[in-house]
Amino acid sequence: MSFNIKDIRADFPILSQKINGKPLVYFDNGATSQKPQVVIDAISKYYQEINANIHRGVHTLSQLATDAYEASRNKIKNHINAKFAHEVIFTSGTTHGINLVANGFASLLKPGDEVLVSALEHHSNIVPWQMLCERTGATLKVIPMNENGELILSEFDKLLSEKTKIVTVNHISNALGTINPIKYMIDKAHQVGAAILIDGAQAVSHLKPNVQELDCDFYAFSGHKMFAPTGTGILYGKEAWLNKLPPYQGGGEMIKEVTFEKTTYADLPHKFEAGTPNIADGIVLGTAVDYINSIGIENIQEQEKELLEYGTQRLLEIEGLRIFGTAAAKTSVISFNIEGIHPYDIGTIIDKLGIAVRTGHHCAQPIMNFYNIPGTIRASFAFYNTKEEIDVMVEAVKKAKLMLS
Ligand code: ALA
Repeated sequence: MSFNIKDIRADFPILSQKINGKPLVYFDNGATSQKPQVVIDAISKYYQEINANIHRGVHTLSQLATDAYEASRNKIKNHINAKFAHEVIFTSGTTHGINLVANGFASLLKPGDEVLVSALEHHSNIVPWQMLCERTGATLKVIPMNENGELILSEFDKLLSEKTKIVTVNHISNALGTINPIKYMIDKAHQVGAAILIDGAQAVSHLKPNVQELDCDFYAFSGHKMFAPTGTGILYGKEAWLNKLPPYQGGGEMIKEVTFEKTTYADLPHKFEAGTPNIADGIVLGTAVDYINSIGIENIQEQEKELLEYGTQRLLEIEGLRIFGTAAAKTSVISFNIEGIHPYDIGTIIDKLGIAVRTGHHCAQPIMNFYNIPGTIRASFAFYNTKEEIDVMVEAVKKAKLMLS
């Protein structure tokens, strides 16, 4: 498909809105992406035509809804190149997926074991592991980062040992945009017999993870960051690992047989899908995957690369502006501050000019502590953004700077 930005933007009705009387410039894609019309329509269509509970009824509607849900699972399996559809677990989002794995590891860890997390993590890939360590007596170790916002791999190598039971790292840092060398880290973790989980929350809108090629043990991501509704997510896990971990939640659908004496659990993927799931949005996650593939991940990457380069160059024209996160491998996220001005103040003023950015610690306080700053202003671009919008933001930031200096 040829990439026509006008047509692409027309797919996203929200982009033609005015905010505070100004055309919306939406640069908060790292927090959540906007939704194309096909996704919005698919939600209504589900409720208008096939709404029913799944895996439970012999009636036609239930069969239709079940088929659509399983078809979506299959699309996601193909999208990430999982070996089996039952390795694709529906969750409510990345946080749910990470907690599921961390909780499962409680039965596998003992005092003296080690969990490695990276310095670049979102709180949702730190706190569940801290809770796990508190429960089991295992020790949490941190892979350090450098000034550019890159992980220091020589330190990672040194931290790895036969005590390491699981390594957990994001594919892309939400706060800085760094693309981590996860293939290297996966292979290294496996060399000492450790499992490895990849937090793919920020990656799935920018690239297409190939979980078999990566050989990761777990890969967690959210639907809402990849143009699908909120409340959806996927935990990919290798079959052997998912069979080894205990269920996360008990309830309907995750059982084989229940008596008051004993319950046996369902096979994958149902063992991890207790309760009525988010059926409509799970189906629509498949629609979003189709949409991404209809645009083409290469086209998405090309557009975002241009935006990153242009945005970096334009923002650096502003005196006193510092960009945090200058890794060689980086996606379309620019975190910055202006000397002497609180990020929140800039964010508030430019919102009045129609521009949506995230300000604050981005749920990554250890990164802010590393740089000794309260937070940053984060502009995170998607493929539907334009250079003209970047120009609007740069002028707005200049104006805000003048007002606040
Ligand atoms: N994790 C999301 C972000 O980075 C909410 O903004």
